[in-house]
Amino acid sequence: MQLQLESPLDMHLHLRQDDMLKIVAPLSAASFAGAVIMPNLLPPVDSAERLANYRRAIDAAVGDLTFEPYMTLFFRDYSEGELLTLREHIIGIKLYPAGVTTNSDAGVAALEAAESTIGRMEDLGIPLLVHGETNDFVMDREEAFLSVYDRLAQRFPRLQITMEHITTRRAVELLERHDNLRATVTLHHLLITLDDLAGGLLNPHLFCKPIAKRPEDRQALLEAALAAHPRLMFGSDSAPHPLSSKECSGCAAGVFTAPIALPMLAELFERHGALDKLQDFVSGNAQRLYGITPPPKVVRLHKEEFHIPAAYGPVVPMNAGGTVTWCLS
Ligand code: DOR
Ligand code: ZN
Repeated sequence: MQLQLESPLDMHLHLRQDDMLKIVAPLSAASFAGAVIMPNLLPPVDSAERLANYRRAIDAAVGDLTFEPYMTLFFRDYSEGELLTLREHIIGIKLYPAGVTTNSDAGVAALEAAESTIGRMEDLGIPLLVHGETNDFVMDREEAFLSVYDRLAQRFPRLQITMEHITTRRAVELLERHDNLRATVTLHHLLITLDDLAGGLLNPHLFCKPIAKRPEDRQALLEAALAAHPRLMFGSDSAPHPLSSKECSGCAAGVFTAPIALPMLAELFERHGALDKLQDFVSGNAQRLYGITPPPKVVRLHKEEFHIPAAYGPVVPMNAGGTVTWCLS
């Protein structure tokens, strides 16, 4: 049995820098025609020069593989002049509330103060991508942020807002309320709950932000993904950290899924009789919502047991050592 995907896209990806970039970028480019690249480097990608340098490093790491990096800038106050010169190089600007995740200390401390830049983005048609968590109790952080999305969507009705890596039923419900809201969802949040991370022996390779939630949350995400909800896109949030930063006290947040994402999505969608929806979930919706035309690239999978490696260089993937029933051809 074969499966053919046209220009699959990963709408939320961490590629890192230097040696890590060289290891993980080709793995994404083996599966995807393009990806939205997160800017949470140290220092963050927040200037024309850093953006150009990062893009060049990604292109070099990808080599001859067809892969379009859709670049993002790290949110800060940007003048209209800056936005005018930067906008042709980016797909959007990523806003992190200060301190909520990896390398987000330079994020936004007070959202009200961010609104003048957000207004300029609305006027210039630049999408806003958001890590939607507060500093509340860890299980409640996304739901506590939903009122912020609600307010932003109303206050800036022409602004396209992406709720990144949603993890709750309430976030899926909010999607219905505003036409200018869209969302990404990860593979891991379609598969796991907090129990898989911490219900038995602790599995640091499933620890990420936002943390995996309850079975009813996973169910709502799954139903929306399997139906290829028109405002939901696949975004892996594949976030590699070296093994030494994961298997330790003070484990870094991030699940590495880039090389296994498509086989595992195929397995999941097939199990639920929804393979016909996978194309829209991994490409069609994103193309329509962002108005992008990715490079033509046919990615083929076939039915064959794939043994997930114990590691890719220094990084342990989700389900390392396990198997998946689909394989990249
Ligand atoms: O788990 C996460 N890891 N969540 C994020 O938002 C950032 C990411 C990272 O960069 O490691
Ligand atoms: Zn992320």
